[in-house]
Amino acid sequence: MSATEFIIIKALENGVNVIGLTRGEATKFHHSEKLDKGEIMVAQFTEHTSAIKIRGKAIVQTSCGQIDTLVDELSATGKKSE
Ligand code: TRP
Repeated sequence: MSATEFIIIKALENGVNVIGLTRGEATKFHHSEKLDKGEIMVAQFTEHTSAIKIRGKAIVQTSCGQIDTLVDELSATGKKSE
C-alpha cells in the first residue's frame, strides 16, 4: 500500500496530541505526538496507520476538507470561541 494522502494538523494551543492508530484487526494507539501552539505536523495514512486522533484545539486539513476541533462547535452554538 502506498501512502499518498496527507493530513495537516496545526496546533492552536500547547499540548495538542496527534495519535496514530494501527491498521488491521486490532485498532490500537501506536504513536503519540505533542504539538505546541503554532506547530504544524504533516502526516500520512500508511500501511501502519489507518486513523489519526487529534486531541486539543487544532486546525485539520485533509482531502475531505478542513475542520477545526472545538472552534466549529462553539461558533455553531453561537458561543464565542476564545
Ligand atoms: N510509523 C508511522 C507509520 O508509518 C508514522 C506515522 C504515519 C504516524 N502517519 C502517522 C504517526 C500519523 C502518527 C500519526 O504509520
